[in-house]
Amino acid sequence: MNSRPRRELPEQLFAAAQAQPNIALVKYWGKRDAAFNLPVVGSISITLDSLWTRTAVRFDAGLAQDRFELNGKADAEEARRVGACLDLLRQRAGVSWRASVSSRNNFPTAAGLASSASGFAALVTAGAQALGLRIDDTEKSALARRCSGSAARSIFGGYVEWARGERADGADSVARELLPAAAWPLRVAVAITSTAAKEVGSGPGMRRTAETSPFQQAWVDTQESDLAAARAAITARDFAALAEISEHSCLKMHALALAARPGLIYWNGATVEGMRRVRALRAQGVPVFFTVDAGPQVKAVCEPQALPRVAAALREVPGVLEVVDTGLGEGARAIPAEALAA
Ligand code: PMV
Repeated sequence: MNSRPRRELPEQLFAAAQAQPNIALVKYWGKRDAAFNLPVVGSISITLDSLWTRTAVRFDAGLAQDRFELNGKADAEEARRVGACLDLLRQRAGVSWRASVSSRNNFPTAAGLASSASGFAALVTAGAQALGLRIDDTEKSALARRCSGSAARSIFGGYVEWARGERADGADSVARELLPAAAWPLRVAVAITSTAAKEVGSGPGMRRTAETSPFQQAWVDTQESDLAAARAAITARDFAALAEISEHSCLKMHALALAARPGLIYWNGATVEGMRRVRALRAQGVPVFFTVDAGPQVKAVCEPQALPRVAAALREVPGVLEVVDTGLGEGARAIPAEALAA
């Protein structure tokens, strides 16, 4: 344990960190253990760059309870999950102080852009730094996973694989970098088709799927070969191969969830039309593919030169409210306090 004797601690322990959301190309859907947040399958994602969460954590001997604010407003709903995540860090450090956590996103929360992934990756990174925990990114990934599954992947940048793992304690269910962002700098156009919070969150959605979808076993059985195909495509920087396996994994995850009882329909009309436009562009030779998570936004991944055409095509889709574009970026990292105001 990296515990420090209490008498050495100053009265406050402060650090700040930034993390970006990630988008899965080979999807995670389903848990093999809810308490440790262990996935039933491995997954592969890309970490984004211009969308971010910046989080400041201050452990303070004088606080009676944890506090959490998001974008300047107290958030009681998320405060529980933040408190549980802080408990894991406190346990590791042997510290009992409560903390004040202030977090800011530069993109809409609950818009299907995985704000929990960047949020909890930033929280674990800032919290570990504030407490002086000497843990590497692999251990941070395991801690972030317990706070929010896909947060395990946002600890790393570029192309990332989160292993299913075999152990009951989850020590081997961690993420690692497959390829740095700069080695294959693809771009992503995110077509936002709704800013409403989703009706069924990913946790309850996964549970319902595992309990009622007749395709659950097929999903689990075919994941290893999908992961191998995506890994090979990334290593070879083979865009066409990555496009094929990513769209397959996305549509397979939705087919699985659609077949739950009652079926989970995460799409709206603009989502479907967006996917069709992306397919039409690719048929014309434009290097682009889509992926869609447990929400209605369409994420179009493309080669850099194709971005203007892809973004313009998505803007024309009726029901698309906005198209946000981003590149691929780094993993979670500590930042100076001054950067929080920027
Ligand atoms: O970790 P969660 O609860 O954000 O679940 C993520 C589920 C998907 O976004 C649909 C797929 C994925 O691998 O990110």
